[in-house]
Amino acid sequence: MALRTIRTEGDSVLTKKSRPIKEMTPRIRDLIVDMLDTMYDAMGVGLAAPQVGILKRVVVIDVGEGPIVLVNPEIIESSGEQTGDEGCLSVPGMAGQVTRPNYVKVKALDINMEEVEYEGTELLARAFCHEIDHLDGHMYTELVEGELHRVTYEDDEEE
Ligand code: NI
Repeated sequence: MALRTIRTEGDSVLTKKSRPIKEMTPRIRDLIVDMLDTMYDAMGVGLAAPQVGILKRVVVIDVGEGPIVLVNPEIIESSGEQTGDEGCLSVPGMAGQVTRPNYVKVKALDINMEEVEYEGTELLARAFCHEIDHLDGHMYTELVEGELHRVTYEDDEEE
């Protein structure tokens, strides 16, 4: 497995807009596999390509229900509201309160460039929003209500 370096807040790559994937290539397949390895190694629940320095619209997520790969993801429906702690592998050891929709439906392509749709509530809905924001150069820290606070490793859910 190949781990990639996770870029941290302050790196300008995290503020840039990512480009859509036009076709699947061996390089992008490798990127996706490396992103999954990197996310699991860092014990995160999600990772977006810009976090490893690649401005392409690719996201991986695993909230404990198995890996989800999203190529060119779009939120096509959302409803409800949840407010809770959110973290990010690019802001290690920190979390802050963010309000997100409680239900999100996403349309994307999978690793074979086949159309897929996912529905998520709670943590998965939060992860979809958080990771797709990364593809547009946005960090959760822009949305935090109140102050960021330190988290202990045990109760940490970093995206
Ligand atoms: Ni993040």
